[in-house]
Amino acid sequence: MRNLDSKSHVRGESVYLDDIPLVQGTLYACVFDSPAAHGKLISIDTGEAATSEGVVRVITAKDLIGENQIGGIVPDEPLLADGEVHFQGQPMAIVVAASEELARKSARKITAQIAPLPVITDPRVAAANGELIVPPKKFVLGDSAAAFANCAHVFEGRADVNGQEHLYIETQGTYAVPTENGGLKIHSSTQGPTVVQRAVCRVTGLPMHQVEVDVQRLGGGFGGKEDQANAWAGICAVAAQLTKRPVKYALHRMEDMRMTGKRHPYSADYRIGLDKDLKIVAYEVTFYQNAGAACDLSPPVLERTLFHCTNSYFISHVTATAFCCRTNLPPNTAFRGFGGPQGMFVIESAIAHAAEKLGVAAAEIQRKNLLDDGDEFPYGQIAESDAITSWTQGDEKYDFAKHQTDADEFNASSKYFKKGVAMMPVCFGISFTKTPMNQARSLVHVYTDGSVAVSTGAVEMGQGVNTKIAQVAAKAFGLDISQVKVHTANTLRIANTSPTAASAAADLNGKATQMACEAIRDRLLCLAKDLVEAEKVEDLSLENGFVFRNGERTSLDWQTLVMDAHLERVNLSEHSHYATPGINFDWSTAKGHPFAYHVYGTAIVGVTVDCLRGRYEVDYVKCCHDFGSSMNTAVDHGQIEGGIVQGLGWMTMEEVVYDAEGRLRSNALSTYKVPDIYSVPKEIAILPLETDRENLAVFNSKAVGEPPLMYGIAAYFAIRNAVAEFRKTAPPAADSDSVVLPFDAPFTPEKVLMALYR
Ligand code: MTE
Ligand code: HPA
Ligand code: MOS
Repeated sequence: MRNLDSKSHVRGESVYLDDIPLVQGTLYACVFDSPAAHGKLISIDTGEAATSEGVVRVITAKDLIGENQIGGIVPDEPLLADGEVHFQGQPMAIVVAASEELARKSARKITAQIAPLPVITDPRVAAANGELIVPPKKFVLGDSAAAFANCAHVFEGRADVNGQEHLYIETQGTYAVPTENGGLKIHSSTQGPTVVQRAVCRVTGLPMHQVEVDVQRLGGGFGGKEDQANAWAGICAVAAQLTKRPVKYALHRMEDMRMTGKRHPYSADYRIGLDKDLKIVAYEVTFYQNAGAACDLSPPVLERTLFHCTNSYFISHVTATAFCCRTNLPPNTAFRGFGGPQGMFVIESAIAHAAEKLGVAAAEIQRKNLLDDGDEFPYGQIAESDAITSWTQGDEKYDFAKHQTDADEFNASSKYFKKGVAMMPVCFGISFTKTPMNQARSLVHVYTDGSVAVSTGAVEMGQGVNTKIAQVAAKAFGLDISQVKVHTANTLRIANTSPTAASAAADLNGKATQMACEAIRDRLLCLAKDLVEAEKVEDLSLENGFVFRNGERTSLDWQTLVMDAHLERVNLSEHSHYATPGINFDWSTAKGHPFAYHVYGTAIVGVTVDCLRGRYEVDYVKCCHDFGSSMNTAVDHGQIEGGIVQGLGWMTMEEVVYDAEGRLRSNALSTYKVPDIYSVPKEIAILPLETDRENLAVFNSKAVGEPPLMYGIAAYFAIRNAVAEFRKTAPPAADSDSVVLPFDAPFTPEKVLMALYR
């Protein structure tokens, strides 16, 4: 079943924020953002901008009717800078003008006097200065300090992993339209309609029932619009409130890159202890998360780093500590994997370190330590593990040893091109780690012509959630999918939504939709029992647009049944609520059962490095992936391919660069390289994991949005293996316990070249 949006996407007819027809009198906003990363705001001069052509109003912090605050977890993020500035790109003033061009031109006429304060960009420096946004978090299993004493091998080191620009094709934006009696209708490119509604209410002082947020679809979010659509929604809302006119702001690419946060860079220290049989006995890790200048979603991201710090491995003694460090960069935020990938990169580095020093393949250590059924995660949940099955099935199908032998043979006869191979197991927990967020509602209407309308809080952002929800409704009613329409995510139809995130949107909103449809179906079948003179309702079902009795088609079709039901005054609408059962987490003990289930998988990645130039190509990514039982293989394969390429980009070519003054140097696509069609692996092969386990996913079809991104991590280690192959004759490290090549992702061609000849 193809994605329902595919036709309108290909024809250019899908509606994004910038395609919404404008109301007469619409104005355009543009912000003046801080040119300094940290300083005391002495004055701001808006005089020239205010009197410029077409300018209707200039707004600064003092003009706000509501609170100058959009920080959802910690109130540390003003909508407009006040008193101090904390990062380059922080919004300071809003210019509202008759056209986009005039707004931008006038914003450039604003100047600010800022007395510089010290700029911190390194999370370790921030931690040393006590700049923590929330107290440190810790997971403990067993007693790692004692366990290290009994390890045959202990290695320690450091791993650094950089951020990542979301580069959603559609930039951030909002269109705010005043409604009668002082209300607002907000069109926002957001993953979180309710998140935006709350932020808008806060800065305007309006109650939530006065603010409607509507989201048609996003041109990608990838986590970047879970929290960070707020600023632009707040800005347009405030401008619309103060001018009483509709106000639109769709960011230019360079504004978006400069002003919004990215995936969190991390720096980490690890210590890994193994016994003589290569069993990992103890693991200690300390994470320094570069949170940027405001809290945003950093604490839950940091928590997920801890949740995934042992990836797919069982380790009996673990101490993991994490620091949420305030720096003078734009606030970093959610990004596909939500901190999990960073945690996994560090344990994979520790394993690669041990493998290198012990002269064994990393895959041997990985294989020996995979989680088994009944093993305990450091956070107390007991694993229903498919880590071993996904590894073995992937290995049986794709044959890691053969790929390694092929690479070895190639390398033996090739001086300047070297091949490297790596394997990567992934175990990713599905559910928001904040338990109360795991709820959703669905509103289903069956109209008298038999067509079905579904509304949920799920936001379509290319991941196909609307297609899956339509499939759920079509299946429940036994209809063709063309009979079902999934409508916009709208806070008037669905209230108090969780953002579309944590890969859980199809599960949560799909389950709620299933419940709503089944409630209507049951009412319809009750009526049908009389109409077809069946003995009991249980004998009846809805299939192919007809009522079936004991598996046989009756003469009663769907449309007739629906119309009869309406005439009998049977309710053809339902609003259902779903809350994931069985999950909990207690931060006072850092133990619980936070995830409905885990997604498992294993990838084998092969690369070829050009050892004269430092360039490389990814030859293949072959994975065995746990779909549960996929309800839409086209959509799910698309998610895997996209996730892998995005993960490869993060690990290889995408390099976010801030200078010491906190200025983004990789501020455009000329200096920030993302994978294009030529850097996609020559082969992506996907083997569905064979398993008949029951799970809590909708129709047993497991969440797929984030986990595949982490297969990309293997590319880093494959490149590293190829580089090591070239360096075979290079002198080893002076200190026999440490590695020569630092763990420092991404492995850009520049870094590869330096590593080859280090
Ligand atoms: N796929 C596309 N095409 N565009 C996106 O923005 N976001 C990813 C993933 N896949 C994204 C995507 C992220 S970060 C998440 S959390 C999930 O989709 C969210 O959607 P789901 O819960 O429906 O899987
Ligand atoms: N994943 C994604 N987004 C979130 C989460 C999570 O676990 N918790 C809060 N927001
Ligand atoms: Mo995804 S990072 O949970 O939006």
